[in-house]
Amino acid sequence: MHDKLFSRLHQEHQEVKQIMIRMMNSGTEKRGNLVNELKTALLPHMEGEEKVFYTEIMDKNETHQITLEAFLEHRVARNLFNELENSRVDADDWLARTKVLKDILEHHIEEEESEMFEATEKIISHEKMDQIFKNYLQEEKGFKDRLAA
Ligand SMILES: [Fe+2]
Ligand SMILES: [Fe+2]
Repeated sequence: MHDKLFSRLHQEHQEVKQIMIRMMNSGTEKRGNLVNELKTALLPHMEGEEKVFYTEIMDKNETHQITLEAFLEHRVARNLFNELENSRVDADDWLARTKVLKDILEHHIEEEESEMFEATEKIISHEKMDQIFKNYLQEEKGFKDRLAA
């Protein structure tokens, strides 16, 4: 995973996974803050991937199916996240929602880092990858700023 974009995405995946583990293991009083942390780590990441990375590989034969799948998993993850954000931290099913979101994200990350990154390396040039990386950072930052506003 020598590519700049892939290392960045990997690093962010690790962060999301860590937050989710803390969500599973923390007391009720920490849940609200952790949901906010997850929001800041997860939503700009997914937005950046969709806008500048997925769109780049969507129309290539080698990555078409896996990208369609990834878009759908993002949609499911967003919906589950929204439900979680709107549910009371002491709700009976808070932990169950968190667990389902965690499972989906872990599966999604696994597929991205194996199948998708590998297939992408074969079809996108290094110059193009650098460009995607720059655009990714910009898109992600823009989204973070809008979230914070
Ligand atoms: Fe990702
Ligand atoms: Fe993703």
